[in-house]
Amino acid sequence: MSADLPQEPAPNRPLIEVRDVTRVYLAGDQEVRALDGVSLTIERGAFVAIMGASGSGKSTLMAVLGCLDRPTGGQYLLDGKDMAEATDEELAHIRNAEIGFVFQNFNLLPRTSALENVALPLDYAEPEVGSRKQRAERAGAALALMGLAGQERRTPSRLSGGQQQRVAIARAMVNNPQLILADEPTGNLDTRTSHEIMDKLGALNRERGITIVLVTHEQDIAAYAGRVIVMRDGKIVEDRQVPGGAVAAA
Ligand SMILES: Nc1ncnc2c1ncn2[C@@H]1O[C@H](COP(=O)(O)OP(=O)(O)OP(=O)(O)O)[C@@H](O)[C@H]1O
Ligand SMILES: [Mg+2]
Repeated sequence: MSADLPQEPAPNRPLIEVRDVTRVYLAGDQEVRALDGVSLTIERGAFVAIMGASGSGKSTLMAVLGCLDRPTGGQYLLDGKDMAEATDEELAHIRNAEIGFVFQNFNLLPRTSALENVALPLDYAEPEVGSRKQRAERAGAALALMGLAGQERRTPSRLSGGQQQRVAIARAMVNNPQLILADEPTGNLDTRTSHEIMDKLGALNRERGITIVLVTHEQDIAAYAGRVIVMRDGKIVEDRQVPGGAVAAA
């Protein structure tokens, strides 16, 4: 782009637009409508909690939002782009560069140090991110931000559950994604550790403007979000703003 052209205004389209999305699974000759006509708009910088009974479709929706799964009907636009038109290669790039994932079971490589776990998204980035040394520095900075300076060389089994989840959050944010998707990130943690994890996610949302979508079964975890969506039988049955909750970044 030429230097004397005016700067593009910040995009004001929503980060996420889900339009009448369905996801039908075939189990034997039974159809399971895991998502049944879901429509949803999420603004950039929002912090959204998704709740609902087991089997209501929360993880299926997260898989669609994370470009891990394609819907069987409807449309998913991420940052204004229709994901149905993206090739598998483009989707892999989006998952690496634009989205960070945090799971209930941490999903760290067991025999790999905290530092190397965090550096993985940089190592796999296309085009490559900096030199090996620069990648290690960035991973180290992400660990330090999560309060894990000094733990870089430990493997997951030598870290507590809360520390492992903070390594996973460092890995999720090391690439500066637009979006972090967290599916029950506190599901395996005690109450005090759960709140530590939520403080870290809240800070990433407030201070870096990263959009966060989080699944939880717990009301006091959902209370960190600025908006709570409730699902039942593959449908959104409630969608409310949380008074005093997280406020979408400008
Ligand atoms: N791969 C699959 N094949 C067949 N059915 C599936 C598959 N994945 C999910 N389902 C079904 O889709 C529905 C929604 O599942 P999903 O995992 O999204 O629920 P959930 O809200 O995340 O539940 P939980 O709170 O237990 O994690 C359920 O009926 C589930 O059995
Ligand atoms: Mg689930």
